[in-house]
Amino acid sequence: MSALGPYLTSLASRVEARLAAALPDPAAPPERVHAAMRHALLGEGKRLRPVLLLAVAEMLGRSSEPAEELAVAVEMVHAASLVLDDLPCMDDAALRRGRPTAHRAFGEATAVLAAFGLLNRAFALVAEAGPQLRLRRYTGGDLVHHLAAAVGSAGLIGGQALDLESRADDRSLERLEFIHSHKTGALFLAAAELGAMAADARRRDLESVAAFAKNLGLAFQITDDLVDVLASPEEAGKDTGKDAGKATFVSLLGVEGARTLASELLDAAVASLAPLGRRAEPLAVLAGFVRDRRR
Ligand code: IPE
Ligand code: IPE
Ligand code: MG
Ligand code: MG
Ligand code: MG
Repeated sequence: MSALGPYLTSLASRVEARLAAALPDPAAPPERVHAAMRHALLGEGKRLRPVLLLAVAEMLGRSSEPAEELAVAVEMVHAASLVLDDLPCMDDAALRRGRPTAHRAFGEATAVLAAFGLLNRAFALVAEAGPQLRLRRYTGGDLVHHLAAAVGSAGLIGGQALDLESRADDRSLERLEFIHSHKTGALFLAAAELGAMAADARRRDLESVAAFAKNLGLAFQITDDLVDVLASPEEAGKDTGKDAGKATFVSLLGVEGARTLASELLDAAVASLAPLGRRAEPLAVLAGFVRDRRR
């Protein structure tokens, strides 16, 4: 079983240390919305997207506070997407990150407002970090635009919309790949690209990293489908068995078939790092973690 290892764990800790401070003052109104934002963001998440962002930035030679703020922003977008995903009108989930979902703890209206609060705070952070990075190849607007495109209806929201329409008898692998690479892959891709941009990466390096992240993100959602059927809610920290009514890689390919496909995608992800040489070792460790994860 692969773990994140000391280096990636240290990146996760650096993100963790910044999360609370990036949120609005909990004592300021609207207190309930702010409390729900904290609940959603500070729960026990794996922080993989921000870790990916920072690992890419450091691999390409830039470790900086503004890059950490970008990482926090990406985690905020992710937390917002989880709040919406769990709503009764979506997956209707009770448990998230080992705690009641935001709408169970605060009510639906507050949860929706908290999700939008997190999303908008994230874009403010990216806008603030951009100029501080002092990039030559990219503008602050490029960073904002990349994240916006990843979350929009051509990205995460598009994938979520089609996921909600999906039915168990839909046997199209192509459609399922589209859903997974949008609802989940798009944010992994944006995290990696933002990391590369924060390091003022050359186009060639950005492309290698993007190829890695695309396969990583798709594999991540396939392993999420595996977690849904194989793990208990206690292990997963969230409701499991929720995908019964929809097409997933597990319902289409079986447990072993889904495992094999995830493994192949992760091998392809790691192969696309070849031009980066040994510097890319932490990203290979991240791929190993995704392959073996139970949570
Ligand atoms: C869960 O993501 C939602 C998906 C896109 C599959 P994670 O498994 O990364 O959730 P946390 O952040 O660790 O809670
Ligand atoms: C969620 O996919 C993807 C996003 C939140 C964008 P799932 O619905 O499978 O995620 P979990 O299993 O609830 O974490
Ligand atoms: Mg869902
Ligand atoms: Mg869900
Ligand atoms: Mg799932």
